[in-house]
Amino acid sequence: MSREIERLARENLQELESDPEPFSAGRLRLHPLTELIAAGGEKIVVTAVASTSRERGLVIKVPHQLLTHSLLEQDEGKNPEGQVSLDRLARKMGERFDMLQKTFGAHVAKERFRVGDVPVSAKVANDFFRSAGDTRTATKTLYVPTVLTVQERVPEEIMHESQDFGCRYMELRAGIEEYSLLNEMLLDESRAFEEKLFDSTIKPETCALLNAAEENELLRRTLIEFAQTAIRFTNQTGELLDLVGSRNVIMFQQDGQWDYRLLDVLAGDQGYENELRKFFAENGVLSARTLNAINYARTMHGIALTLGLPNRLNFVHEVIGDASWKSRSDDLWRDLRAELARNGVLPKVVVDDGNQMTAPDEIATMPDSVMESVADGSTA
Ligand SMILES: Nc1ncnc2c1ncn2[C@@H]1O[C@H](COP(=O)(O)OP(=O)(O)O)[C@@H](O)[C@H]1O
Ligand SMILES: [Mg+2]
Repeated sequence: MSREIERLARENLQELESDPEPFSAGRLRLHPLTELIAAGGEKIVVTAVASTSRERGLVIKVPHQLLTHSLLEQDEGKNPEGQVSLDRLARKMGERFDMLQKTFGAHVAKERFRVGDVPVSAKVANDFFRSAGDTRTATKTLYVPTVLTVQERVPEEIMHESQDFGCRYMELRAGIEEYSLLNEMLLDESRAFEEKLFDSTIKPETCALLNAAEENELLRRTLIEFAQTAIRFTNQTGELLDLVGSRNVIMFQQDGQWDYRLLDVLAGDQGYENELRKFFAENGVLSARTLNAINYARTMHGIALTLGLPNRLNFVHEVIGDASWKSRSDDLWRDLRAELARNGVLPKVVVDDGNQMTAPDEIATMPDSVMESVADGSTA
């Protein structure tokens, strides 16, 4: 799926090369398109410059699920109702982003959400129509309305030298027993913290940063600032950070200082708290938003424990009440793996086998999209 999106995105760009104004986002005209940065996850990311300013490097992010939806729903290019819901979606995304920026300030890559038209070449549109069983045939480029993210571009030198900061879904990697140990250690804190065990839950680059911080005071202070701010942000707003995708948060050195940028951290919604309460009280069904919440909580608590910080996420203790995460760990493991299987990330056969570690080649490569299909619920 992600390869197919990448192929279509590349083909589309090639066919539109001669188009002088390939994107419009509200009143902003953006051109020229130079290159495709990414198309493997939830969004197609391309470089652009704003025509109103000199050499301002930008990226445009196009959510491909929404784009496809809009392409297939579009009726002769006119869809006033669709336009209203896109406006609403852009506004909602803007409000969530404002909260993030208020808390993290300059650490958030500046971005704006705009309803804009993305040109889809006739050939690519027809590819989509065919695979969706749609009988229409496009004869010229279609301009498909969607919500675009226009974001400041992180210069390539920084991107290249930066470390990918985040975690991995432990429901994909840990067997049922190890999973319980992790929950005891990081959520109940009824078990002593073992850095080695925690290290297996985060990305190797993140692990290297935490280790390096033992000797590097500047890095340590940056990590502490990030951890304290993230925990405060969640406690105040109920919003989580998506630390699972590739380079959603980057850490880098500039002018001898350590710094970080949040590039793509808003995912899911705040519904995870209710979902967890229901799950504990009456064995409710868990969805991807809870998967994100629990992995985020284990990660932030592990980072806090590594750095010796007292800060914790309030929801972890609030939703579990008098019970313990350990006592519900096996149920969580099974239910969350079932959710991963429903999303096509895990093959169905391995879901129930408590001792089986999932081989890396059995894991589909789209964890970001699992999360964001939840966020995209509002577009359905
Ligand atoms: N502002 C940016 N500047 C440069 N590269 C970026 C920027 N934002 C994202 N990228 C690159 O594009 C990839 C995908 O972007 P992201 O916003 O994370 O979308 P997705 O929803 O697909 O995960 C990132 O992993 C990163 O490598
Ligand atoms: Mg991402």
